[in-house]
Amino acid sequence: MQTQLLSASDSSIAYAAKLLKAGELVAIPTETVYGLACDATNPEAVAKIFIAKGRPQDNPLIVHVNSMEMLKPLVRELPQAALNLAQHYWPGPMTLVLPKSNVIPSIVSAGLDTVAIRMPSHPIALRIIEESGLPLAAPSANLSSRPSPTLASHVMDDMQGRIPLIIDAGASKYGLESTVISIQGETAHILRPGAVTYSQISELIDSVDIDNSVLKPFEGGTASSPGMKYKHYTPKATVIMVKGDIERFIEYTESKKNDNVYCLVFDADNEKISLPHLTFGDSPEEQANQLFSRLRELDKLGAQTIYARCPTPEGIGLAVYNRLIRAAGFEVIDLE
Ligand code: TXA
Ligand code: MG
Repeated sequence: MQTQLLSASDSSIAYAAKLLKAGELVAIPTETVYGLACDATNPEAVAKIFIAKGRPQDNPLIVHVNSMEMLKPLVRELPQAALNLAQHYWPGPMTLVLPKSNVIPSIVSAGLDTVAIRMPSHPIALRIIEESGLPLAAPSANLSSRPSPTLASHVMDDMQGRIPLIIDAGASKYGLESTVISIQGETAHILRPGAVTYSQISELIDSVDIDNSVLKPFEGGTASSPGMKYKHYTPKATVIMVKGDIERFIEYTESKKNDNVYCLVFDADNEKISLPHLTFGDSPEEQANQLFSRLRELDKLGAQTIYARCPTPEGIGLAVYNRLIRAAGFEVIDLE
């Protein structure tokens, strides 16, 4: 299969909508990361997503809608807490796990009784949903376990020959996937941190907690979010997260110097470090925006080992920390 890469335009959006209605896959831009979309109501189309990504069948997909009218038939109920969150943070980088209706085929929810739903804010994503008239199932458009794509070229690197069309609308605004929240009674349970932060959720909901799997490895049993069981966000290189200030970081990594060792540090460290390195910003927002891109760039440079500085796990920084520690397979050197 030839993979076409087209810039977002009236004609490419119309073509994307036509392919989606015909049960094909299209990679689309969103404000978080690029998504690999298909008609969420068509089980044959959804099956193609699992094949194209090499995704385990028990890892459910997020369904993207452009209105509350489109959402309503997909769920059995919409608890007040979910409605409050939706009113404040949709359209935007937040996903709500809700009791699913029969309109959602079980392949989308991987057999669960719930479905994850998001209303993205990216204007091109919204137009593609609008023109197709379909709720779109869309995981991140990377090969399973690889870092999520924040540029159309990342999607091309992973999906060339596997899907017919990629719509290019430049870099994703946030650079990390959405916050996934499951509502249980009055409690908002954060399954995956993202750009909608713990404190933003707490402004609306009295009881908010963070799933154990956000900061710790999965320890067996039933995962509240099946995606948390799997190796994730990994470049080809081995990633090791190093806790401690830049002086200790330099002292430690100097002793590991070798042709294939690279460091991933903050912008402010750039002048201090002599080992080959890339930087990924200073603020948590910059780090969110650059992390996945840098991991892919380090692969292209031939890095075999990457020593990464530890982000501060606050605000959107919690999401950066979560993705990096998972990329590292929870391998952390603590120099503090
Ligand atoms: O920002 C995003 O969320 C991007 C863009 C494309 O929208 N999508 C994305 O999808 O990150 P994906 O498939 O890469 O991650 C979906 C996550 C997985 O960890 C999955 O296990 C979890 O959401 N999830 C999906 N449905 C769920 C459900 N019913 N219950 C619990 N977790 C669920
Ligand atoms: Mg993903």
